[in-house]
Amino acid sequence: MLILQTVNELKEWVRDTKKAGDSIGLVPTMGFLHEGHLSLVKKAKAENDKVVMSIFVNPAQFGPNEDFDRYPRDLKRDQELAEGAGTDVIFAPSVEEMYPRESQIQLTAGAQADVLCGAKRPGHFDGVLKVVTKLFHLVEADLAYFGQKDAQQLAIIESLVEDYNFPMAIRRGETVREADGLAKSSRNVYLSGAERNEAPHLKKALEMGKELVLKGQDPIEPMTKYLTNHTSGVIDYIELLDYPTLTTTIRQNAILALAVKFEKARLIDNIIFHPKGN
Ligand code: PAJ
Repeated sequence: MLILQTVNELKEWVRDTKKAGDSIGLVPTMGFLHEGHLSLVKKAKAENDKVVMSIFVNPAQFGPNEDFDRYPRDLKRDQELAEGAGTDVIFAPSVEEMYPRESQIQLTAGAQADVLCGAKRPGHFDGVLKVVTKLFHLVEADLAYFGQKDAQQLAIIESLVEDYNFPMAIRRGETVREADGLAKSSRNVYLSGAERNEAPHLKKALEMGKELVLKGQDPIEPMTKYLTNHTSGVIDYIELLDYPTLTTTIRQNAILALAVKFEKARLIDNIIFHPKGN
């Protein structure tokens, strides 16, 4: 496995790889890898000749009072895990390498960013669009892999690719969970022992909400009660929307999504399902 830290090294590798006729799958991450990230690598490995994983804690997507500085980082451990899952190249640039000057052009997410996390984290998805656009152009991947754990991010990136004719396709990966249902996340290390014991109730609340929707009932209030009774966290949002449009008129697929703030960790989770039950 190669570890590349500069844009020039990456471009050279991409040129040689394309010349050899190999297809490229890209898995963008912010590192501190877990099974969720690795499941995307395995999917990418099965569908492409070469797999590039980017590891970059992207300052552009963190708000001023968010956790950029304390976001967990462990490149050595990440290298071992990435290689074990079949990664061919890790691209791990510095902030200066990725953003050598202040951008003169800004990308702005559309209405899909007005709900859920986008409403709570202003500018967050613009920062995600900024980094993934650069990664897409640098890696020239045929396929790029994103997890449904971050369903709003995935939907917005699908719009980017469709609206601006990026010559590639996006692949969706299912949410990987701990045995007790907690969605794997790099931020789970922020949870205290007591909070970690409460955290599986997020998934339970989603399952309960889904059953209510399937019965034609409004899930928001019962879910709010359930989470208030079973966790010490503060609910940031619980929303039921169409997926992937993220509008309020549910057509084919519904997403039930929530965010809960614990002492040091803000956890998000969601389920996507057919509201008619099939
Ligand atoms: P990060 O949180 O590191 O996640 C990288 C990728 O792994 C994302 O596509 C995310 O949806 C996926 N992922 C995270 N947890 C998962 C889980 N439990 N199951 C399945 N997939 C999971 O998302 C980002 O980084 C950044 O915003 C990024 C896209 C890299 C842009 O900076």
